[in-house]
Amino acid sequence: MPEPGGAEGRYPHAFRPIQVGTLSLDHRLVVPPHGGGNGSLLGSAAEFEQHAALWLAKLAGGMRWLGGGPNFVRNPLPPGFEPTGVGAHGPGFFRDPRYPDRIGELAARVHAGGGLLSVQMVLQGGMPIAPSATLSSYADHRIPHALDIDEVRWLVREYGESAAFAIDAGVDAIEIHANHDDLVQWFLSPLTNRRDDEYGGTAEERCRFLREIVEAIRSHATRPITLGLRLCLDEMIDGGFGVEDCAATVAAFTAEGTVDYFSLDVGSNWGDPSYIPNGWYEDHQWAPLCGTVKSATDRPVVYAGRVLDVAQADAVLAAGHADLVAMARATMADPDIVTKTRAGAEERVRPCIGLNECIHRRLVEGLVYACGVSPRFAREAEPPPPAPAATRSVLVVGGGPAGTELAALCAERGHDVELWECEPHLGGALALAALARANHRYQDWIDYQARRLEASGVRVVLGREATRDDVLAAAVDVVAVATGAVPRRPDVPGRELPHVVTISEALTGTVELGPDVVVVAEDDGPAPLSVADHLAGLGHHVTLVYQSAGLAPLVGKYSAGAMYARLIDGGVTLVPLARLVEVEAGDVRLASSYGRRRWSIEGVDNVVLACGSVPADGLFLALKHRHPEVHLLGDAYAPRRMVFATRQAWALAAVIDNSPAVSAVPTPSPS
Ligand SMILES: Cc1cc2nc3c(=O)[nH]c(=O)nc-3n(C[C@H](O)[C@H](O)[C@H](O)COP(=O)(O)O)c2cc1C
Repeated sequence: MPEPGGAEGRYPHAFRPIQVGTLSLDHRLVVPPHGGGNGSLLGSAAEFEQHAALWLAKLAGGMRWLGGGPNFVRNPLPPGFEPTGVGAHGPGFFRDPRYPDRIGELAARVHAGGGLLSVQMVLQGGMPIAPSATLSSYADHRIPHALDIDEVRWLVREYGESAAFAIDAGVDAIEIHANHDDLVQWFLSPLTNRRDDEYGGTAEERCRFLREIVEAIRSHATRPITLGLRLCLDEMIDGGFGVEDCAATVAAFTAEGTVDYFSLDVGSNWGDPSYIPNGWYEDHQWAPLCGTVKSATDRPVVYAGRVLDVAQADAVLAAGHADLVAMARATMADPDIVTKTRAGAEERVRPCIGLNECIHRRLVEGLVYACGVSPRFAREAEPPPPAPAATRSVLVVGGGPAGTELAALCAERGHDVELWECEPHLGGALALAALARANHRYQDWIDYQARRLEASGVRVVLGREATRDDVLAAAVDVVAVATGAVPRRPDVPGRELPHVVTISEALTGTVELGPDVVVVAEDDGPAPLSVADHLAGLGHHVTLVYQSAGLAPLVGKYSAGAMYARLIDGGVTLVPLARLVEVEAGDVRLASSYGRRRWSIEGVDNVVLACGSVPADGLFLALKHRHPEVHLLGDAYAPRRMVFATRQAWALAAVIDNSPAVSAVPTPSPS
């Protein structure tokens, strides 16, 4: 009998056993397949160790059924054709001579830890192959090659033979990726399957490719194996695969008895919604849709999509929307989510706040995979840092993401840490951003940081403005300046007029805005969009003017669709490729970013400057040369997104541990 106060008692639906095919699970929380994390199944030995460590960390943290990374199926490309797009892979994984050993080794390590491992078979982004030479979205206009019947049959065989490598190596389940712009989804969808042979036409014919793949895998399996389908609940695009199609597909495979479970989520990687939904959506928004499809089968159904913690998972299960709940990003932010919840320490679970850095940094900027709230993510194979040689006294000035992360890391390593924040609350720029309706989840992380600072013994002093002399008088070993940045006002006439306001004034409501507002975006990140959306939500008529060709070019496609959709549906007028040249009372003068055109927007009550910020590095400069070890980090060094600040804090904590006399910013000797 579970104890009423224990996790089993509080979350009786999540912590209940279930049988999925051959898999016996003691609870219903799972990690869906996902890529990223800087490891590689087939890469160098070190990359393999990182790949394994990422998944084993989730196992150690209480997850049992692990989806594993995407395993690409060989793409039947003609010589020299270069596949492009997310998931584009030519040779695939399964026929690589290293594959059996690597996947077998991973499965063995997972089994040794008491877990179960899936292999997801992926031909995502099909580029250049597709059922028909047509488009799958409004965003990607590269016409694919339509597979001929021989190529289709070749692929069916390839899936069957490929699965056998994984099954023989000892994995526990095979999952067919039939969503997220996978070739298989494109066969299922009436939008992308325009074939008139036996693989297109009616719903049953569109399903033939998947059915033959399932049969091929079953026929190649030398032992009983759990087989699942990851399907799109609803493409939510005109003419696409809708929830009725999904329910019919699930019902058909249930009737045939060839599939053990269905894993369901929503959207595509381009659209509104994307399948990695950011905070502009409700938490577990599509769970009821999953419930609709669940009624078409008696097989276990997994739901994924913005389930942020065990309480939410339990609620989804309690409502009968699914039999299991998958959490990808929540386990990137904190792989120990289940263990901590079971131990009654949910307040120590580091929350995912839906920044989507886990996918975008890599895709948009080519940087390593990373998580904004957890600099430890994607570094699981790194050994924990050795205890520092000596305890040092550290003063962190600034309580935003950079400052709180550094202070907590240093205190957790045993240093004596004090943090001064000039505002009466923690959070810095993130606390301001959290005021926008799209970002309310950001406050979860700020609250988590506050608890963490307290637990690690950091002395937090709020409302304390730091002067040079105060800092010097504190006589600490190390000073870290994370004083953030101040709003930037573009250098145009009229920028100081009283109706021209900053994001801060707009979001805090310190200036009352009139009905017609122009938001000027000179910032490639999400802030101008969040502000415009927030003001539209308050009933203002908003015009968003931005200099770039695309709106928010550093916001990747997994978030962008949601944001564009809500701006457009919220009546925000978008003015691209335009720069602010002057503000007058009631008028905003613009010029085109590239051409010579100039024009005005009239009848403007307020102008909101979403023009980024400039570093507040005065304290650092005043301390440099006067204090033996002073560091500068976060926006005070250069304003970037939160992920840059938390990762800098991680690196700086190691510097503070190891090099008592070395400053992160080279400090020339005073002449
Ligand atoms: C970095 C990253 C990589 C992903 N790769 C895959 C993948 O290879 N296959 C897949 O089916 N889903 C993939 N997903 C989607 C997740 O499995 C999951 O459905 C999605 O993130 C929504 O769940 P969440 O809200 O719990 O994160 C990926 C998600 C992320 C964040």
